[in-house]
Amino acid sequence: MSSGSPTGRERYGVDAPMVPVAFAAAAVVALALAPFVGLAWPWLIIAAASAVQLGLYLHATLRGKFRIWERLLDEAQLTGDERILDLGCGRGALTIAAARRVPRGSVDGVDLWRSVDQSGNVEEATRANAVAAGVSDRVSLHTGDVGDLSFDDHTFDLVISSLVIHNIHDAAHRASVISEGLRVLKPGGRFVIADIDHVKEYAEGLRAAGATEVQVTGLGLGGWFGNPWFRMTSVRARSATS
Ligand SMILES: C[S@@+](CC[C@H](N)C(=O)[O-])C[C@H]1O[C@@H](n2cnc3c(N)ncnc32)[C@H](O)[C@@H]1O
Repeated sequence: MSSGSPTGRERYGVDAPMVPVAFAAAAVVALALAPFVGLAWPWLIIAAASAVQLGLYLHATLRGKFRIWERLLDEAQLTGDERILDLGCGRGALTIAAARRVPRGSVDGVDLWRSVDQSGNVEEATRANAVAAGVSDRVSLHTGDVGDLSFDDHTFDLVISSLVIHNIHDAAHRASVISEGLRVLKPGGRFVIADIDHVKEYAEGLRAAGATEVQVTGLGLGGWFGNPWFRMTSVRARSATS
């Protein structure tokens, strides 16, 4: 097991839980209709496609995103004493993976704890996960909007965010997440986002705000939340040094 893997004692829930429920319901309904309504084969195709999407979704939310963030955190080459901010930490999948890698540092997680975005999404669940993982001494949780951060300028070495910003429907609000993330980064600090939508917009916002080394990278089949239209892509950048 690498330094950031879940121990098996934590419980991270399922992202956007109504989506896999909808895939499962579509599969069951199509199977039920196949013998009775018109030709069977179109219903069987719908059932099979829904079942495949369900399998891909569950893999991405329960395994794939964890492996993806192991890679992204490996690439960040942490030394162990960084101060890290997780934007939209939810139940702490990423907060805790990061905290394991900074034994002399700390991780702050900010969230509004929306259960529509993650099952069982309450601050107490995140705190319990940090305790179970043995990192609660260096994890701090904050209730707040990721587009309006309460931290001082130039506080963090690394800002990370997983599957969060696409949930914000207003483009100006999404842009404020990018500008706030850059504001709280130290000069030359790193910003790493993985999301399933709007990633080009984030990259353009980072470049327009003066960030350097902006890279957009596909993250593979393990990050497909059901189908290729909702696949995880990373955006990495470095804040300006002056
Ligand atoms: C799909 S979950 C991902 C959670 C976590 N990053 C992970 O990968 O497990 C999205 C999270 O974003 C949070 N969120 C959505 N909009 C937010 C906002 N404007 N400010 C803070 N958190 C927000 C939700 O409450 C939820 O915890």
